[in-house]
Amino acid sequence: MYLLGIDIGTSGTKTVLFNEQGQALASYTGEYPLYQPRNGWAEQDPEDWWQATVKGIRAVLASVPEARKDRIAVGLSGQMHGLVMLDKEGRLLRRSIIWCDQRTSEEVEQMNRIAGAQRLIEISANPAMTGFTAAKILWVQNHEPDIYSRCAHILLPKDYIRYRLTGEFATEVSDASGMQLMDVRNRCWSSELLTAFNIDRDVLGTMYESPELTGNVHDEAANATGLPAGTPVVAGAGDNPAAAIGTGIVRQGRAFNTIGSSAVIYAVTDELRLDMQGRIHSLCASVPGKWTLMSCTQSAGLSLKWLRDTCCTAEIALARCEKVDPYKIMDELAEGVPIGADKLLFLPYLMGERSPHPDPLCRSAFVGLTARHGRPHLIRAVMEGVAYSQRECLDVFREMGLKVDCMTICGGGGRSRLWRQMLADVYGCPVNTLKVDEGGALGAALLAGVGTGIYTSVEQACEAVVQYNEPQAPSPNASEYEPYYDLYKKLYPCLKPIFDQLAEI
Ligand code: XUL
Repeated sequence: MYLLGIDIGTSGTKTVLFNEQGQALASYTGEYPLYQPRNGWAEQDPEDWWQATVKGIRAVLASVPEARKDRIAVGLSGQMHGLVMLDKEGRLLRRSIIWCDQRTSEEVEQMNRIAGAQRLIEISANPAMTGFTAAKILWVQNHEPDIYSRCAHILLPKDYIRYRLTGEFATEVSDASGMQLMDVRNRCWSSELLTAFNIDRDVLGTMYESPELTGNVHDEAANATGLPAGTPVVAGAGDNPAAAIGTGIVRQGRAFNTIGSSAVIYAVTDELRLDMQGRIHSLCASVPGKWTLMSCTQSAGLSLKWLRDTCCTAEIALARCEKVDPYKIMDELAEGVPIGADKLLFLPYLMGERSPHPDPLCRSAFVGLTARHGRPHLIRAVMEGVAYSQRECLDVFREMGLKVDCMTICGGGGRSRLWRQMLADVYGCPVNTLKVDEGGALGAALLAGVGTGIYTSVEQACEAVVQYNEPQAPSPNASEYEPYYDLYKKLYPCLKPIFDQLAEI
């Protein structure tokens, strides 16, 4: 049996073919654009996700032709909270409003008004969030009523790909709990919230647990992708809950930290726990019968990517000549700058923020900039700012009694030894990495393995496959970050009135 993990990311879709031992045999990433038609808006075209998926599946099957002669099972993972709307013919009605979009401040107020702020937390386990799907649905109801009147199906990004592969309208608890339409304690749609928000139950997909089978690849998708018709497609999980499986974080007491476009700290809990201030999210885990606490920083890798694309043309050109990744050159520059980036601080709020400051209007800032500073300082300040933002989130986990003895770092940012060291120093605990860091794609593939009986449970799949590298301890000069972190924490409350006024102009 081969396990195919498909992860619908923000910068691209990653398709990885694994064997039963969790070894990646072939991998393909197809990229696509992110549209930002207005300040704070973020959209993608689901057709791009599908085309990238088709290319990815074709590419990995071409690399491992023997897979088609054996059995293959598919698992899906994807960016969370995105809104995909289809008409009754299954045609896309508009571009997807994705996770980092922040246009819905008014809808969040509307949600609190009609459902009751307290009741919303009791049912959906989170206060009304601009980034979650429900507010986006209300935005379409309010601003594009014609489109809403034609909407027959609402899906999350990976569930749209499931629809294209199998024709089924289905979702699963880990991703659906990020829509804010579920009774998260009872792991089902909430009829109370659906009635309050005027959403017909029939537009939402069938709810599954993450390792359950949801359908089979139909003939048309088989022709498009090269997968045998009838290939089973397992529910899968949102990208973070899927990464939790690929990271082996499936039991209480362990946590991982993804530094991708967003940054996430994710821990599993045996019972549902709530942060009433909404600084971190509570969701259903991809492990049946478990829940999670999860923080989400909107722009982590995205901040460094923004700096690369706007300021580092010279580094990009050099990287091209030397045939290396531009981030490697940026890392070397940052390494030459002392801790604190020569008294330069960065707030990573390029797309507003969620954790621990749920605030769509806050924006980024460099604070302390002088004529002495150059690109190396900016790079280091961005990396440090992301590390401080993660520490602010980790402090909430710690305040809620979750101890983290060692943090597993994954995602693109985790490939930088310098960034990992910063994180170990700023957290004050060792960090480790995975032997196979395939993020959501591995988690999705392992869920496919559980759903088709290769593994007896999610926990057993992780035990069989996930392995860690030696941990990296905090360095002797870790305490030098503390005075900068203390100042960093003071910046958001100081700047909040300015951000609000800036948005008003
Ligand atoms: C999590 C979140 C992001 C996306 C990125 O709440 O919004 O991590 O899932 O893909």
